[in-house]
Amino acid sequence: MRYLVLSDIHSNKEALGAILTFVRRKPWDKAVFLGDLVGYGANPNQAVDMVRRLKPLAAIRGNHDKVCAGIEDGELFNRIALEAAMWTRKKLTPSNLRWLKSLPEGPMTVDERFAISHGTPIDEDAYIFGEIEALNVFRHTEFPICFFGHSHFPVVFSLSPDAITTVLTVAPTFRMKLKQGVRYLVNPGSVGQPRDGNPLASFALYDSDSRMLTIHRIAYRVKDTQAKILKAGLPRPLADRLAIGR
Ligand SMILES: [Fe+2]
Repeated sequence: MRYLVLSDIHSNKEALGAILTFVRRKPWDKAVFLGDLVGYGANPNQAVDMVRRLKPLAAIRGNHDKVCAGIEDGELFNRIALEAAMWTRKKLTPSNLRWLKSLPEGPMTVDERFAISHGTPIDEDAYIFGEIEALNVFRHTEFPICFFGHSHFPVVFSLSPDAITTVLTVAPTFRMKLKQGVRYLVNPGSVGQPRDGNPLASFALYDSDSRMLTIHRIAYRVKDTQAKILKAGLPRPLADRLAIGR
């Protein structure tokens, strides 16, 4: 089974569109979404519509989805994130708002093959930035493979019996065969707001038969996305950061 793994789209229609165009040449069987479909960008309804059309789809909510859908009030958000979330809440159509609200909390097991979570499989709002957080998750869960998002950079943490290893992926196309007997925490990176200093949209493909993981970085029309954010009256830093991947 070939999975298309997407995370942290953040209402970025151009980035998601570029990825969906790219994967027309790379057939997949099921889409998997790790949360944060909306928030920050200027095209929340278009982003939700595009993801709703991916079939079959396994999807969970992110912290921005919760606030934009009105499940939480965003008291932990910074001013800019909260302003964007309140703007998004007003813009979402009733149908898309209902759909977002119905997204389940992670972790979720997909086809008995791997787990997905937004932050960590223990706490959907917690981050995995480095090995200490990854080790804590490995210790308190049993998933052989878990895809996660929230931190907005592609990374693979692997736990063998004697050590934890971090692989920070920097190539435009990164390939890694996941070994039997090793546990993995994999972030496919952020579709719509990368934060590793690389502005290219990030996503993963995972073939569960060959256990081959591929992480791709894709160019998209960043200037169009920035112009829409400014035209919508959303805070300027949300547009500026897209050009530098921060
Ligand atoms: Fe996010």
